[in-house]
Amino acid sequence: MKNIDEIRAEIANFKIENAESLEQFRIQFLSKKSEIQALFGELKNMTQENRKEFGQLVNELRDMAQNHYNEFKATIEAATDKKSNLIPDITRPATRQSVGSMHPISIMMGEVRRIFEDIGFSAVEGPDIEDDWHVFTALNFAEEHPARDMQDTFFIELHPDVLLRTHTSSLQVRTMEKQQPPIRVICPGRVFRNEAITSRAHCIFHQVEGLYVAENVSFADMKQTLLYFAQRMFGDEVRIRLRPSYFPFTEPSAEMDVSCNICGGAGCNLCKHTGWVEILGCGMVDPNVLENCGIDSTKYSGFAFGLGIERMTMLKYRTNDIRLYFENDVRFLQQFKAATK
Ligand code: DAH
Repeated sequence: MKNIDEIRAEIANFKIENAESLEQFRIQFLSKKSEIQALFGELKNMTQENRKEFGQLVNELRDMAQNHYNEFKATIEAATDKKSNLIPDITRPATRQSVGSMHPISIMMGEVRRIFEDIGFSAVEGPDIEDDWHVFTALNFAEEHPARDMQDTFFIELHPDVLLRTHTSSLQVRTMEKQQPPIRVICPGRVFRNEAITSRAHCIFHQVEGLYVAENVSFADMKQTLLYFAQRMFGDEVRIRLRPSYFPFTEPSAEMDVSCNICGGAGCNLCKHTGWVEILGCGMVDPNVLENCGIDSTKYSGFAFGLGIERMTMLKYRTNDIRLYFENDVRFLQQFKAATK
């Protein structure tokens, strides 16, 4: 028979890791058929003296086994409990994940880009901080043109040659200086004007400039391109109208209105009760501008347009205050989740 020390070592070394090994431990050390019980059986064959001493040792051994057992049982039960708590309640409603949305201006910019890219225009970008040449002089602005006035233009540290661009037409110049026709580009960007902020005007806004220069480009090409654009943006039923206008860099020049999609032409606040909303300026590129940029105006002609993104976004999403686009109030922005691609 094993001696008491051996059994004590066995108890100490017994690895209890789960319910199964716990049960094995119980059978081996605590059941009626255990070696410890067998030791108790020995007692009756012993002398009175030995019995007392031996009995005490066996009792201690049994207590040790029992404590060992209780301890591990508690640990294993606690672990199982924890595990069962981890099983989720599958009937519980899921926690909502909050998904952000794109800014309406970015959505609109993306849409305009996509429409023009589909007919072969590619997008180019340029600096917000510009010089007089690219914003005014090359674009045929006369020396005393009021747009150069400090009331409109933000100059950098009052330096007359460094300014924040007031329109993306500066990118026409940058493109034509680098590239010979055929040119077909759109230029999305931020522009800045020293204007009072109201519900209809802001000192920062966004434009997309368009430029097409090649041989034999006509006013009819421009009109058809802009009609195609308006129909894709606002739907086939939209109507356009071109009104004669003036820009130093185009001749002839026009402004384009689309039928108001808020009131359907009946008259509302956005269209100032006219049924029409102006969305862009356009025209045939003035030969002076082509020449300023190193393009032969006897060989090439072209059209250009500049559209205001905020105005179009207001029309498309039926909002009536331009300031909403710059305040970043999440209650406003969240409403564009569905339009976020
Ligand atoms: N640059 C003009 C503006 O900011 C818009 C514009 C008009 C752009 C006619 C053009 C154009 O390219 O041809 O008001």
